[in-house]
Amino acid sequence: MKPTKKVFVTGGAGYIGSHTALSLLEAGYDVVVLDNLCNASQEALHRVEQLAGRALTFIEGDIRDRACLDKLFREHDIHAVIHFAGLKAVGESVSAPLAYYDTNVNGSITLCQAMLQAGVFRLVFSSSATVYGPEAPIPYIESMPRGATSNPYGASKSIVEQVLDDLVRSDERWSIAMLRYFNPIGAHSSGMIGEDPQGTPNNLMPYIAQVAVGRRSTLTVFGNDYATADGTCVRDYLHVMDLAEGHVSALDRLTLPGSHIYNLGTGQGLSVLQMIEAFERVSERQIPYQFASRREGDLAAFWADPSKAEKELGWQALRGLDEMIADTWRWQRQNPNGYRTEINTTSQGTS
Ligand code: NAD
Ligand code: UFG
Repeated sequence: MKPTKKVFVTGGAGYIGSHTALSLLEAGYDVVVLDNLCNASQEALHRVEQLAGRALTFIEGDIRDRACLDKLFREHDIHAVIHFAGLKAVGESVSAPLAYYDTNVNGSITLCQAMLQAGVFRLVFSSSATVYGPEAPIPYIESMPRGATSNPYGASKSIVEQVLDDLVRSDERWSIAMLRYFNPIGAHSSGMIGEDPQGTPNNLMPYIAQVAVGRRSTLTVFGNDYATADGTCVRDYLHVMDLAEGHVSALDRLTLPGSHIYNLGTGQGLSVLQMIEAFERVSERQIPYQFASRREGDLAAFWADPSKAEKELGWQALRGLDEMIADTWRWQRQNPNGYRTEINTTSQGTS
């Protein structure tokens, strides 16, 4: 019998990482998660195991801790690494740049050094559409150059992409996929795992969901004077399970040496007001909102050209807007306080 391949997932207790860990287990991989739990709960992984019907290995640790990484690689025969671990709040990165460069850049370099020593050369890296910069024409295409970045978070993603490009040029054993995510939303259809931001959500969809469930009174819409059809910003929202499955598809691509960039998005742009209207329709809840001035650093509109991922990975976002919202809403109402909510099976499915 063929041995099961083991995938090392950094940041696997987080939002995208936990959904990807589930997809990996379902695809037949074994999974080792390393997470320092600075923005996640181990409860997410217990629920992933419940959903998958089998266990994964969890190690509480930091990607900047070289000794911890070396031990992990000694103890596990790792086929490939999927690297989610990082800090992701754009605004916070402006006030705490050193923490962002340390975790996102230094952490990624430490990980690659440990991989090199262990002889593991397959890597999938979480990049972001933000690396295209403010001047790129839409839709974004992978062949466009990386643009200017207006905050340390975006800069850290751009720098790591450059480091990885240089790494593959230096040594042809490396095979690296850099996945540029657009705007992931939604949750697993069971409502058992989902996005659980600490404190006030920075992103639109978790904020809307917390208003709908009564945790917050009013949504603030940042700007209604953009040059878009209704004046609010336009983004390419994709279902987190589609994104998770994109990582499984990317793993298959890691037989080819070099670095490979893929946009993971739907190719369709939706405005903030369209998102609010759709949430109200699907959840049958009202979302009170008020307009405020623009949020610094926001671009008016961008979305992906996802055709390269379709052609080369055979991947496409399959789930539509209503499904993304229905799944967000199911997660939020079953877990009004995120992973701090006790699961009460009798209340599941009720609103
Ligand atoms: P998340 O915060 O839910 O997950 C990140 C995980 O990394 C968390 O579980 C956190 O505890 C862990 N972590 C942070 N620093 C660590 C460290 N030093 N050592 C070990 N673990 C550490 O975020 P997410 O939304 O799941 O994002 C995952 C990745 O995707 C991040 O790299 C993020 O920058 C990138 N990304 C996210 C989005 C998005 O909209 N969510 C968009 C583009 C790119
Ligand atoms: N928005 C509001 N009110 C809120 C939150 C957001 O009006 O309370 C608006 C924003 O102004 C923006 C849109 O909703 O117009 C989407 O904002 P998000 O914060 O949900 O998403 P962003 O597009 O700003 O950022 C996301 C990720 C970043 C990543 C970027 C580009 O959070 O990590 O996409 O890939 F860098």
